[in-house]
Order: sequence, then structure tokens, then C-alpha cells
Amino acid sequence: MNGPAPMEVLRQHLIDPEICIRCNTCEETCPVDAITHDSNNYVVKAEVCNGCMACISPCPTGSIDNWRTVLKSRAYSVEEQFTWDELPAQNTTASAALDYPAQAGADTNATDATDATDNPDENPEGIDVDTVRGSTLPPWSAVKPYVNLYTHKQPLAATVVGNYRLTGESTASDIHHVMLDFGTTPFPVVEGQSIGILPPGTSKDGKTHHARQYSIASPRDGEREGYNNLSLTVKRVTQDHRGNVADGVCSNYLCDLKKGDKVNVIGPFGSTFLMPNHPNSHLLMICTGTGSAPMRAMTEYRRRRRLKGATGKLMLFFGARTKEELPYFGPLVNLPKDFIDTTLAFSRTAGQPKRYVQDAMRERATDVGQMLRDDNTFIYVCGLKGMEDGVLQALRDIAVQNGIEWDPLWRALKREGRLHLETY
Ligand code: A2P
Repeated sequence: MNGPAPMEVLRQHLIDPEICIRCNTCEETCPVDAITHDSNNYVVKAEVCNGCMACISPCPTGSIDNWRTVLKSRAYSVEEQFTWDELPAQNTTASAALDYPAQAGADTNATDATDATDNPDENPEGIDVDTVRGSTLPPWSAVKPYVNLYTHKQPLAATVVGNYRLTGESTASDIHHVMLDFGTTPFPVVEGQSIGILPPGTSKDGKTHHARQYSIASPRDGEREGYNNLSLTVKRVTQDHRGNVADGVCSNYLCDLKKGDKVNVIGPFGSTFLMPNHPNSHLLMICTGTGSAPMRAMTEYRRRRRLKGATGKLMLFFGARTKEELPYFGPLVNLPKDFIDTTLAFSRTAGQPKRYVQDAMRERATDVGQMLRDDNTFIYVCGLKGMEDGVLQALRDIAVQNGIEWDPLWRALKREGRLHLETY
């Protein structure tokens, strides 16, 4: 007589819906397209995920790093995961089969699943840099950030201390500078990090709204230096990706806030898109629209630090439809030329040809090439999804034009935490 069929066990990769801020980073990072989403949750396809771990460190919240030991035949389907409001507890049968601890909700350490290989291009986390487009590690000198101090279950109420429009009144782009103050409650942040905002109310199905993620636009020591506050750059969303009328729940909420209003904040998030902390490092920053928020934070930190001897070069390429639609246009053009080398690219100026950031970079190929040649240069790209390909292509062409081999440079940039991409 045959014995019972062997139970095949799978260490299933799952995303915690209670912590996830639906920022799409994991879906973009996954080299095998194992991650997908619906309007409720981001989920992992068990049959596609190969446990490569490329998504783990870019996730700003850590919600991606969840694992359950399951019988392979009973792996959670994506349909099932779409309905979850919280992760299931560890199933005892499957964990017993692998002799894993079976406490409710017990997570296993994600890094255990990584097989070390002898690929020289792997970074210390075992990620093959050829499978990712940008760095999954911070710069070596970045300060260690705090993350997830405040959660959906325990948000922090911040007070609105300012809210004003940054873009010309006559333009369609309604972009606001929103300042939030935390009073005497600690909310430590560093440049490049983001926070989550919990808009009040519920969606059509009666569920509370998910948090929306916004990059912090101010430096670590406050929007107002020495204060426990920060700022956000928020564009009022009035249409969806297809151009249909659709009011963004959170952006409209934020843009309409008045001084003194209270806002529920979670986070901070992000541990890779961070600036180097050594004062002679160079920053090459490329952004469009509200993607300027982290660039403003880094630039302002350097401006304050310059007075204390920071000597690294700053080069900025900034794209917008017109000068009236470029957030922070006034303060930006007033920064001293010997502090930051700024090139603006406008795509919809009447009577002028369309110009994107990548066109502007090509025009400055010699200077960009000089920065690429310097292994003290850290590159940041933030803004529209569509710009990512164009900017990477421009970097490649500029490298080649300057006699630098792109592929080894690209790998080095990724491995050394020197190429940070955040597009949406
Ligand atoms: P466009 O005039 O073609 O929309 P937005 O105002 O929508 O946030 O966009 C900011 C800027 O980014 C605009 O100038 C926009 O130009 C530009 N842009 C749009 N697509 C790309 C792309 N693929 N690469 C670079 N810039 C882009």
C-alpha cells in the first residue's frame, strides 16, 4: 500500500495590507512581474514569485516583507489576497510540515530565503543588480532613518500651519505647499523620505480610505529651521490617468486644508532614496512637477549646510509644462549659481518647441558627463513614470559620448546606492 502523498510546502510571499501604502514601488521593481494590485490591495502571485528579494528594500514601509509557510496546493490566490484587510495567521499544518514556529501571525525572516550566489554584481542583500533599474540600497553615508513610527492603527495628528498655492492662478496645475507641525511629538525625518496621509471618510464600499504617500519637501531640521514641522508638495488631482474627470480623494483634501486643521499622518517611510551625508558628495537631481519635493528637501539641507562647509556640487534638471506651472520657480531661480547648477525644461511654452528634462540633460552632456565620471556623484530621479526610460537613455547616451562604458557604470551606480529612481 502507498503511503500518504508528500506535502509540498511553499514559503509564500505576501504583502501586509494594513501597512502597505499602495505606492506601486514593489510592482515596478519586481523583475518577474509577480506583483499586481486592484483597488483594494497589492498582492503577490505565488506561482510567479521566485523569492529574488528585489522588492524588499525599495518598499518604503516594510509591508512587503511577509512570509507564510503554506501547503503548495493551498497557496493563497491573488483573488483571496485582494479581499484581505489583514494578513492571515500562520497556518499550523504547513508550518509543522517544515518545523517552523506556528504562532499566530508569525513572520519568518525574509532574508533566510535568499540563496547566496557568487555573482560579483550582487549587493550585500544578495540582489542581482542586473534585475533592478535603480539602487535598492541607500548611499553609504546616508543617516539611518526612522520608519513606521506611526501606523494606520496609531496615526499622529499634525496641525496645518500653512497651505498656499505654488503655481500661477491662471494655470490648470493647482500645486500646493502644505506645512504640517507635530508640536512636541517626535516625528524624525530625513530628506528623500515620505509620509502617509489618512484622508477622512470612507470609500464607496464603506471602507476607510487607504493612506496616500507624499514625499517630504523640507529638510530634516524642519521646513522652518529648528522646528518640528515639514512640508509637502501636493498637486490637486482632477482627472484619472485616462483624462476622465476624477477628483483625487487625498490631494483635494490636502489642497483645501486651512491653518489649524488636524491631519492624520503615518510613517515616516523610505530607507533607500536618501541623500549622502558626506558634505563633498555631488547630487545630480532630475525631476518633473511634484517630483521636485525631495530635490527641494536635499537642496535646502545642502544650502543650510553649505554655510557649515559642504562643498559638493549640485546639478538640477527640472521639467514642467510652463514656468508658471513649475513649483518653487521663484525661490529656485534665486539660488546662487555657484551653489546649484539648474536647468529648466518647459514642454508647453507658447512659441517654443517641447522640451523635456532628458533633452536639457543632452544639451549639458559635457557637464553631466563630468559628474558621471566622479564616483562621488549620487543621482536622483523623481516625477512622472514616463520620464524614467527617457532619463536612463539620456544618461546612457551622455556616458557613451563622454567615453564612459554605460553598463559597468550603471551596475556600479546601483550597487553603490548612487542611482535612485522614484516615479509614479
Ligand atoms: P507634457 O507637456 O508632455 O505633459 P505634469 O505637469 O503633468 O506633472 O508634467 C510635468 C512635466 O513632465 C511636463 O512638462 C510634462 O510634459 C513632462 N513630461 C511628460 N512626459 C514626460 C516624459 N516621458 N519624459 C519627460 N518629461 C515628461
